[in-house]
Amino acid sequence: MRLENKKAIVTGGAGGIGRATSLAFAAEGASVAVVDLNAEAAEAVAEEIRAAGGNAIAIGADVSSEDDIIRVVATANEAFDGIDVVFNNAGIIRRTTAVETTVEEWDRVFGVNVRAIFLMCKHVVPVMKANGGGSIVNTGSGWGLKGGGQAISYCASKGAVVNMTRALAIDHGPDGIRVNSVNPGDVDTGMLRDEAKQLGQDQAGFLAEAAERPLNRMGQPSEIAAAVVWLASDDASYVTGSALVVDGGGIA
Ligand SMILES: NC(=O)c1ccc[n+]([C@@H]2O[C@H](COP(=O)([O-])OP(=O)(O)OC[C@H]3O[C@@H](n4cnc5c(N)ncnc54)[C@H](O)[C@@H]3O)[C@@H](O)[C@H]2O)c1
Repeated sequence: MRLENKKAIVTGGAGGIGRATSLAFAAEGASVAVVDLNAEAAEAVAEEIRAAGGNAIAIGADVSSEDDIIRVVATANEAFDGIDVVFNNAGIIRRTTAVETTVEEWDRVFGVNVRAIFLMCKHVVPVMKANGGGSIVNTGSGWGLKGGGQAISYCASKGAVVNMTRALAIDHGPDGIRVNSVNPGDVDTGMLRDEAKQLGQDQAGFLAEAAERPLNRMGQPSEIAAAVVWLASDDASYVTGSALVVDGGGIA
């Protein structure tokens, strides 16, 4: 098992990609703290892991809040006696142009997609450093590497995730901490389906368009999870500061 005895935190762990990655981490032997705004759904994922014989706890938290992040790090560290892996994955999208986006919406997208990663790293890096190192994976997006339509705050926030990842890798490499971003294309999750609603588009047509790429289909959450497991594991021991694209081809 590639994550045997590792202790992991997954944010947005109740959602499509976060749940799949929490399950994959546990299947590879990690203890997992499943963190989500939806505490009940996080508990259901933790229970799913425990029912399969794994070790997991659920923590309800808003990752944009420093108090909540401090509590998440302390709770996971106490429960598992260390933290080796963090998957900063919670995210939200608003499908609006600059003209349509309110200042409050802009700040919320940056709070969840960007500030949360800064806050997590601020509080978890000292724990990892004391334990001799670790691996952090941040969820960017193909739209963080190139632009996309009607998603100004999201595109800007995911660009920030990609470059913040590089800066974190430079600062904390000497502490034995690797930091990488995983950049999915269109993956079949609640977020993607909600985008059709936000745009007022027919869902079937929206999803058919999302499948237009060389591999001719959308991604599945488990396919992103597989990449995150690799980045989190010692198999990626010489990989840091990278922006790994997992998109079926064609967006970045
Ligand atoms: N689905 C895609 O096509 C796609 C493509 C590129 C990138 N991404 C990114 O992947 C990540 C996961 O998205 P997903 O597709 O699984 O979406 P999802 O909506 O299924 O999951 C997101 C999870 O994050 C949680 N969350 C939202 N705000 C939070 C907060 N403030 N604090 C804690 N948890 C919070 C939600 O409750 C949800 O469980 C996001 O960062 C998203 O931007 C998704």
